[in-house]
Amino acid sequence: MKDKIRFNYEGNFIELPIFEGVEGEKAIDIRRLRNATGLVTYDPGYKNTGSCKSSITYLDGEAGILRYRGYSIEDLCENCSFIEVIHLLIFGHIPSKKEKEIFLSEIREKSLVDEDLKGILKSFPKTAHPMCILASLTAGLVAFTPKLGSYEDIEQMRPSIIKMLAAFPILASWTHRKSRGLPLNYANNSLTYVGNIAHMMFRRPHMDYKPNPIEVKALNKLLILHADHEQNCSSSTVRIVGSSHADLFPCIAAGLSALWGKLHGGANQAVIEMLEKISVQGNDIQKFIDRAKDKNDPFRLMGFGHRVYKNYDPRAKILKNIAKEVLGQVSNRDPILDIAIELEQRALEDDYFKSRKLYPNVDFYSGLIYRAMDIPTRMFTVMFALGRLPGWISQWLEMRQNNEPIGRPRQIYVGPKRQDIK
Ligand code: ACO
Repeated sequence: MKDKIRFNYEGNFIELPIFEGVEGEKAIDIRRLRNATGLVTYDPGYKNTGSCKSSITYLDGEAGILRYRGYSIEDLCENCSFIEVIHLLIFGHIPSKKEKEIFLSEIREKSLVDEDLKGILKSFPKTAHPMCILASLTAGLVAFTPKLGSYEDIEQMRPSIIKMLAAFPILASWTHRKSRGLPLNYANNSLTYVGNIAHMMFRRPHMDYKPNPIEVKALNKLLILHADHEQNCSSSTVRIVGSSHADLFPCIAAGLSALWGKLHGGANQAVIEMLEKISVQGNDIQKFIDRAKDKNDPFRLMGFGHRVYKNYDPRAKILKNIAKEVLGQVSNRDPILDIAIELEQRALEDDYFKSRKLYPNVDFYSGLIYRAMDIPTRMFTVMFALGRLPGWISQWLEMRQNNEPIGRPRQIYVGPKRQDIK
């Protein structure tokens, strides 16, 4: 195999090494390039740049493959709980029964947050977006938590990781409860990690709460499917903020801010709004497909297409079945599920979508499931964040363990040349 790239620049031959990942991806190691030639590379959006070596998640967008630590998400969704996947992503292996118990009891022990955080929450207006509140509370958590470790090895990082896993669902559920005018509650530690999330979000103060098993099962799968997606915008943000050796909590707050943007975590909301519009306008699905194909119309089919997947997003396949299961148990079937199914069918048969390899993505069905669980549309990105938390933590941990240098890209300056004040 050729393991070097050799080129001539201004009369000098330069050799740069090529290395290969375990699944056959090849990369040119350009670290010597600037010293050898004075050149830097230019790649806005990092579309063609590998920012790190990682052993967490493998994604093949052409083949529609997504694996965490080598396990396919289909396998993980079928056979694991979210807490097992959290352990897998962060610590590298599926926990034994004993390890899982220890892990859960560590989380349960830390599942309290300082009551003064409620004061911060209270000071937000009712109209505040839940993601804005969650990012603030998560960053604020650092002020209420004595320094938990100096982060020199994984054992020193573990208390911060456990605290984050314990506190985050409480803070996320508080943003939901505030928007609904419900009293803020704490964990019920007799429940599973996911049962507890459901309990904290949905429990009413005047009645007993028993998590709905179909919804808890669906929630487990939804959270697993969102748990990591290698170097996406928010995970890269967490890594780059952490590379300055910032504490874990503000790194997660930075990830939340990145996720909030509509080009990243916000698309599931747009799908629901589109389906509602189709319903209100008389179910004319073909009209919306024709609009999406019309180059003079800026409208796009929301929940279709992906930068990396040029095949059916494997997460969307699983979500479609979960949507049918969850929506099937609600007494009034949500009419927009039928619209979604027909829209997908027509788009998949249409040459425009076929020729451009546009398939449903993770956001196409997730919003429908959240809606059936009575989760408000503005909470959808918070739900995404609950799933992505272990991915952010594992990316942060890997970056610290690999002792990666501080993230600091170069630029090509195109502003004014030197000028003097006259
Ligand atoms: N509806 C109609 N046409 C589309 C769509 C769509 N949803 N997506 C892409 N296309 C067309 C483009 O018009 C373009 O056509 P052309 O070649 O004739 O010019 C072609 O497909 C390629 O599209 P690009 O915009 O170049 O693809 P890119 O990879 O840059 O965009 C993106 C990916 C942003 C996801 C895009 O498919 C899109 O806007 N989808 C709708 C929004 C959405 O669902 N976002 C969620 C993504 S999943 C996630 O982030 C968690």
